[in-house]
Amino acid sequence: MDAISAIRDFEQAVLSAIADAATSDALEQVRIEFLGKKKGRLRELQDLIGKVPPEDRPKIGQQFNTAKTAADQALSARQLELAQPKKKAAQEFDITLPGAPLPLGKLHPLTQTMNEFKEIMGRFGFSSIEGPELEDERHNFEALNIPHDHPARDTLENFYLAAACVATGEPMLMRSQTSTVQIRVMEQQPPPVRVVSLGRVYRPDTIDATHSCMFHQMEGLMIGDDVTMAQLKTVLRLFATTYLGQGVHIRFRPSFFPFTEPSVEVDMSWKDGWLEIGGAGMVDPNVLEAVGYDPEQVTGFAFGLGVERFCMRRYQVNDIRRFTENDVRFLRQF
Ligand code: DAH
Repeated sequence: MDAISAIRDFEQAVLSAIADAATSDALEQVRIEFLGKKKGRLRELQDLIGKVPPEDRPKIGQQFNTAKTAADQALSARQLELAQPKKKAAQEFDITLPGAPLPLGKLHPLTQTMNEFKEIMGRFGFSSIEGPELEDERHNFEALNIPHDHPARDTLENFYLAAACVATGEPMLMRSQTSTVQIRVMEQQPPPVRVVSLGRVYRPDTIDATHSCMFHQMEGLMIGDDVTMAQLKTVLRLFATTYLGQGVHIRFRPSFFPFTEPSVEVDMSWKDGWLEIGGAGMVDPNVLEAVGYDPEQVTGFAFGLGVERFCMRRYQVNDIRRFTENDVRFLRQF
């Protein structure tokens, strides 16, 4: 067989083998058989051409190159084609199908609760302010009429921070109540006052299902010309009813707090038995004096409610530790 027809046969054979290869593996076999560097049929062809008379070589060499280029190009094209079944599937993708839902992050249930509290109290005309969690004794105790020998000031009942004491030169503690913010507000603005303050408080309690070393309170303060205990009860009832729904009852029990006179413990019932939700009372004249207000001119009420209590009641959470365990299965429910 002369070289020219050998080249033509080679070209036909390789092109049809490439076209017939149904998979990438089959195509690779074709490549080895025809174009393999060591033993491929192209190689044999090359040897054959080496033997043609020198005067025929340019022409035959050109034919050879054309056939080789055609084979190379067909091979690459087919390689691409076989490697693209995914692209075909993508073309068949139905863009009208609904997307797979992505789980979204959410605010922590207590953050949600506090946001809702602020919003509700905002509707009653209470603006929301924040105070520091690291406090001095004036704001946590003294201005609140809590004397030096009061058991609530015991160092074992509070988180005093030695480093903060060194830095400021006075005893500093993590606030044990949000009542601190009452003092901060009244120091800064003249009456009338109508504010709530929500945030964390810290106490070295033994942790169990209803106690934690860190929990949240909502402090409320209303000061004006003629603020009464009846208004206090109404505000608390309206607040709780707005948060939980109809059927909320509020009950006051006589109590004692150094910063209120008279003082009450506040209980709430909703759907079933009574639950203590916080303390309240009429702001003690000593507190008004401590911030430079005139107790002869203004009166006011104050209250401090446990945020967790409300959230747990509404969502039937039976263990306060759930809020800080970071169990996503729990957090997702809110
Ligand atoms: N600060 C009190 C506590 O942590 C709660 C409280 C009681 C706040 C009476 C008040 C109040 O504003 O008037 O237990």
